[in-house]
Amino acid sequence: MARIDSTSVVNISDLRRLAQERLPRVAFEYIDGGAEAEVTLRENCRAFEDVVFRPRSAVKVPGVDLRTRVLGLDLELPFLLAPVGSCRMFYPLGEAVAARAAGAAGTAYILSTLSGTRLEEVKAATSGPCLYQVYLCGGHEVAKKAIARAKAAGFHALVVTIDTPVAGLRERDVRNGTKELLTRNPFTMLPYIGQFLARPRWLAAFLADGGLMKFPNVELPDGPMPYADVGAALEQSVVVWDDLRWLRDAWGGPIVVKGVHTADDARQAVAAGANAIVVSNHGGRQLDGVAATLRVLPEIVAAVGDKVEVLLDGGIRRGGDVAKALCLGAKGVLVGRAYAYGLGAGGEAGVRRAIEILRSDLVRTLKLLGCPSVAALDR
Ligand SMILES: Cc1cc2nc3c(=O)[nH]c(=O)nc-3n(C[C@H](O)[C@H](O)[C@H](O)COP(=O)(O)O)c2cc1C
Repeated sequence: MARIDSTSVVNISDLRRLAQERLPRVAFEYIDGGAEAEVTLRENCRAFEDVVFRPRSAVKVPGVDLRTRVLGLDLELPFLLAPVGSCRMFYPLGEAVAARAAGAAGTAYILSTLSGTRLEEVKAATSGPCLYQVYLCGGHEVAKKAIARAKAAGFHALVVTIDTPVAGLRERDVRNGTKELLTRNPFTMLPYIGQFLARPRWLAAFLADGGLMKFPNVELPDGPMPYADVGAALEQSVVVWDDLRWLRDAWGGPIVVKGVHTADDARQAVAAGANAIVVSNHGGRQLDGVAATLRVLPEIVAAVGDKVEVLLDGGIRRGGDVAKALCLGAKGVLVGRAYAYGLGAGGEAGVRRAIEILRSDLVRTLKLLGCPSVAALDR
């Protein structure tokens, strides 16, 4: 495995390159890609370039305080690890590995419904808090079962993703034969198998970890949901505002609504009883052509920032990006690809390095800004 240390991996782009080297194309591009023309994917990152800092110079800041309170959790860092499905495809027991790295750094991990590791195992792997992201795959009763398990396992909050009434068209996935590879029919798979053979180490680790996954947290009547059914399952399980009611009753704890683009939807989420919202376009993987999240953040903070905690995700690749989102009113942020690249590049070491890069960027940025704490960042 590639060396992951502070000289060979200086930034998140380095982890991205290492992930590309270690993973088969279909897995790397599943992480890296976005929907359709990938306009929103690019805009999420580019929007950060349009926001410039106004530092206070000649200020001595001996130490900076990154601690942030989100949903009643005291976190050492103002960023959490976003729900990323299929992490077990990037690295053996990927979800547990990422959760452990998050906990070691003093932050929270959000487990996707579409994960390859049992939620109990993920919770047990980390010393930090876990949140559970729900899709309603398989219907309400199936979701209720997972929610009850998450509650029993000690998950802290439920994250309800509302931007996935149908899977976005990720064109790279189509070209890489994702659908064909999931048929398990050797003849259909054949044209796409070469990408696995080109990554024998990844392949050996993947097979040793059980090979093609099921989703053990989606317990259908005849067993865990098989890997092939994702698109159809999402389409049959659209989350609507009314669902927030029974989800709240079933869960009985803090609820986060993820996938808010507008002040209108933010107000709907508040009315539906959300404790926090995530301004998110799913990392540009769903509706292409929506605005970068950083651009809509101020509108949403102005609308509901005094009622709920407003978090943001999308495009965060540097600690400076985290600082910019906090300056514009986010209480904290989620990072997706930044740690997924790390996981693909080298498992726990890669996720730890991703977190450390963002943390040390943030410390340096605050010192350069002349600002002693993330809580003191403002416009
Ligand atoms: C490979 C991948 C899988 C994802 N799977 C999920 C998921 O299962 N549920 C969900 O709510 N969001 C999912 N997301 C979206 C992330 O939670 C998050 O919104 C997004 O990654 C943020 O953008 P960033 O990657 O630029 O940080 C996924 C993102 C990626 C990159």
